[in-house]
Amino acid sequence: MNNNENKPYKLSVSILDADLAHLEDEIRKVEPYADFLQIDVMDGHFVQNISFGIPIVKTIKKITSTPLEAHLMIQQPEKYIKNFVDAGSDCVIIHYESETSTDILDILRNIKEYKARTGLAINPDTPVKKIINFLKNIDLLLLMSVFPGFGGQKFIKETYKKIKDIKKIIKSHNYKVEVEVDGGVGLNNASKLLKSGVDILVVGSAIYKANNVNEAVKAFSSIKI
Ligand code: DX5
Repeated sequence: MNNNENKPYKLSVSILDADLAHLEDEIRKVEPYADFLQIDVMDGHFVQNISFGIPIVKTIKKITSTPLEAHLMIQQPEKYIKNFVDAGSDCVIIHYESETSTDILDILRNIKEYKARTGLAINPDTPVKKIINFLKNIDLLLLMSVFPGFGGQKFIKETYKKIKDIKKIIKSHNYKVEVEVDGGVGLNNASKLLKSGVDILVVGSAIYKANNVNEAVKAFSSIKI
């Protein structure tokens, strides 16, 4: 349970830039305000970085009841869906751009079969029109507002138009898809993102690299729209 059940948006805190030597403490700081924790899984192939994987999901699941989003920035995600769900992921997000040996649609259906929330992510250079046909099969569309691989990057402004375009399509078809934005989200752009129609803000370094993590996460949970 977090302190802000009634706010009109959700906050997903990325642990990528948390102090991993004190991960439990870092999670306790954000727990009261985070609707989700996002675990950025990177394989060094889909992105030029290697972060963490299934063991860290298992570990975090043991220490918090905050729902976990596994953001799979990996090739061949279809090989690992069950592992991430069994490890405790409440939501599994795969990338449209990942190399896969099966259709994206089959992978999305597989995530649903395992009773996890189903997320699809697209990079900044992937047009919205590429994923329209998947909208009826997902719970969550993650719009990357940076090129994935690292926290602390600069927000790509073209994301605002993508948000508005996709929200129009979701509304016109009455799809039940939440729009999440990830990358370069800060107190300087959060309100504009929410006004543009974002349902879930992913925030990493603006919280964990702040001078005061507690104050930063509190600020992100009370953004004026
Ligand atoms: C990119 C990662 C980051 C992370 C949060 O590969 O997915 O976007 O979640 O990044 P910042 O630090 O920009 O909030």
